Amino acid sequence: MDQIIVTGNGPLNGQIPIAGAKNACLTLMPATLLSEEPLTLTNAPRLSDIRTMTLLLQSLGAEVQALQEGQVLAMSSHDLTSQRADYDIVRKMRASILVLGPLLARFGHAEVSLPGGCAIGARPVDLHLKALEAMGAELDLRDGYVHAKAPAGGLRGGLVDFPFVSVGATENALMAATLAKGTTVLKNAAREPEIVDLARCLQKMGAQIDGEGTSEITIQGVDRLGGATHRVVTDRIELGTYMLAPAICGGEVECLGGTIDLVSAFCEKLDEAGIHVEETPNGVKVARRNGRVSAVDVTTEPFPGFPTDLQAQMMALLCTAEGTSVLEEKIFENRFMHAPELIRMGAQIDVQGGHATVTGVDRLRGAPVMATDLRASVSLILAGLAAEGDTVVSRVYHLDRGYEHVVRKLSGVGARIERVKEQ
Ligand code: EPZ
Repeated sequence: MDQIIVTGNGPLNGQIPIAGAKNACLTLMPATLLSEEPLTLTNAPRLSDIRTMTLLLQSLGAEVQALQEGQVLAMSSHDLTSQRADYDIVRKMRASILVLGPLLARFGHAEVSLPGGCAIGARPVDLHLKALEAMGAELDLRDGYVHAKAPAGGLRGGLVDFPFVSVGATENALMAATLAKGTTVLKNAAREPEIVDLARCLQKMGAQIDGEGTSEITIQGVDRLGGATHRVVTDRIELGTYMLAPAICGGEVECLGGTIDLVSAFCEKLDEAGIHVEETPNGVKVARRNGRVSAVDVTTEPFPGFPTDLQAQMMALLCTAEGTSVLEEKIFENRFMHAPELIRMGAQIDVQGGHATVTGVDRLRGAPVMATDLRASVSLILAGLAAEGDTVVSRVYHLDRGYEHVVRKLSGVGARIERVKEQ
């Protein structure tokens, strides 16, 4: 397995291009299953999760061609041969559950393996299933699979009132509702930009959707959907991640393709910490000129609140802030696994349940550390950028799931970082 070696050095300066959103692409790709017509995605990120979703769609008989070095995904589900998503693929990536709604809506039946949990939590899919049942689906859970059947006339529009916000359940329900007969209302729907991006793509395919981006989405089912070409929205989590590089090291970095509205709650916290953020014609510029950042308290919430996917990275910044910060993780039950690794680098962090109290230190010290999940892996790299000496991050395969060309992007703004085979 590869390792990434980061050597703490001075301020960073330059530009970092931000890719298309992994979490938008992972729901836009299953949308091809809703239509016989071709669906083409541009600005797609080159990530292992995207390759996993490609394999899953191909296992169903869909055509998926990665063009222009993977930035364009040309897909067609005209001749599907299977409506069964096997465990051997689903276990690699829980977003595989997002083929359930589309398969059920278009074919009236589907068998999808239940995704396992993962490092950050049990991550059940009960809200996905309840939403489909509200549209008339009959679901039978056995042998680790969801065996789903629609009523004889197909799914029917219904009222889905989510007890709490779920991004994936909103996406599954939204896609299924586009072909259900009648009107579906999703209450307490997720408002993430990736939901809006999915709705925009479905509308191009002919879906009748209103209210996307608010907590109530109304869908009028249609008989069939057509094809479309859709540009994947910019990845707000990659954007926030790279905005933290100059915040941690000092300097000035422009993240190309990003816009502040994608990360407004995050930017408010950076401002509170004393980091200057401004939108430019090409993206978002972050500058940290002098002095230490100030401690801030952070609570993760569904969009438009502070994103859970930026919590680990923000903790890396707060490890060397002036004062004490409290981070509250309210979305996942076990998302502080980066804390013990940061402590190995000299951070002072006390984790109690869903709260992590971080007391800032002057400087972290480089150390061998281990990535435990996607966002934890990149928080260790960020911490290493300003630490004294070398930080060696192992198990970087976690990183490859969500960040393309990390070494190239960070060395392009002056970071001392390289990827090596495990010594
Ligand atoms: C999406 O996961 C993202 N993944 C996650 O990003 C992100 O952290 C999460 O949304 C929250 O924003 C993708 O989009 C592929 P949820 P998802 O359903 O849809 C519980 C990353 O790093 N829940 O909003 O799985 C669940 O366990 C990844 O890119 C149920 O109990 O998240 C969690 O505690 C990590 N039952 C909470 O709700 C359900 O049926 C929010 O989960 C569904 C979810």
